[in-house]
Amino acid sequence: RALLRRLWKGDASVRMLHPRLQKAMGAYLRANKHGVNFRGRRAAGRSRAELLCALRGRVRVRTLDGSEPPFSALGWRALVPAVPLGRLLPHGLRTCAVVTSAGAILNSSLGEEIDSHDAVLRFNSAPTRGYEKDVGNKTTVRIINSQILTNPRHHFTDSSLYKDVILVAWDPAPYSANLHLWYKKPDYNLFTPYVQHRQRNPNQPFYILHPKFIWQLWDIIQENTKEKIQPNPPSSGFLGILLMMSLCGEVHVYEYIPSVRQTDLCHYHEPYYDAACTLGAYHPLLYEKLLVQRLNTGAQGDLHRKGKVVLPGLRAVRC
Ligand code: C5P
Repeated sequence: RALLRRLWKGDASVRMLHPRLQKAMGAYLRANKHGVNFRGRRAAGRSRAELLCALRGRVRVRTLDGSEPPFSALGWRALVPAVPLGRLLPHGLRTCAVVTSAGAILNSSLGEEIDSHDAVLRFNSAPTRGYEKDVGNKTTVRIINSQILTNPRHHFTDSSLYKDVILVAWDPAPYSANLHLWYKKPDYNLFTPYVQHRQRNPNQPFYILHPKFIWQLWDIIQENTKEKIQPNPPSSGFLGILLMMSLCGEVHVYEYIPSVRQTDLCHYHEPYYDAACTLGAYHPLLYEKLLVQRLNTGAQGDLHRKGKVVLPGLRAVRC
């Protein structure tokens, strides 16, 4: 696969994608649904050291803390967990795993390696039961999009997937990060189920990502990309990678940049095929992955065989 080899080397372009995906991307660019108005400066030629330094200086994990309107007037300061997400996990987390849900992780036998990490991040409704050999069974943090909270198909209130883990939810807000507008018109109304879940399970750490954090990451992707990227939020995968880079000494990411097992199977746990899941239509996935490729300090063989990228934690970065 030519595109895969280019992705491994870091010089893929949108022009290499299937025409159907290119067309979808063009439509998202024209629609600009979230009102993106990029004012940053392009700096596409940064070295890895420069990139890491820029990330360390700019990336601040932020969750809703209830101090801003409209949430302040709704009593959210007392509703959100007392301990901020950044201080929840012990500072001594040496290595962390980010496990994407890509179909390519099937038959990887990565489970044992994944579970050997100090903390493991998973996404949305990705299960471990029945897939332990390939994905492991430890889950420390689960990032969930607002559809998980609102679509009855996911059984958010009952499913064991969402118990005994740290939950981090997000929803696409306007680029302006105007919290009033977002509260009135979220993509999917995650606020009501969030409040309900906090009231019923006050001891479970459960956060909502601040739109400023999400769009800050989008700005960073655009700044470091020559092409115009989709004006839509980064994927949960990219949000999770940057979250763990802020919390851990080192981050091992599995099947984000695809291995030789690359497949159009969207998720390892569902019989649904779509190349957009790996390369992106709505999310600027191709560009996220090119950026992560540039940050990879792991072995090229691990990338090809395991689909593994190794990234330094941001605390360890020296500028
Ligand atoms: O589809 P979902 O968002 O639940 O998957 C979690 C994350 O895993 C995605 O946001 C994306 O970053 C990554 N992923 C991928 N390739 C796939 C499926 C998911 O890179 N085929």
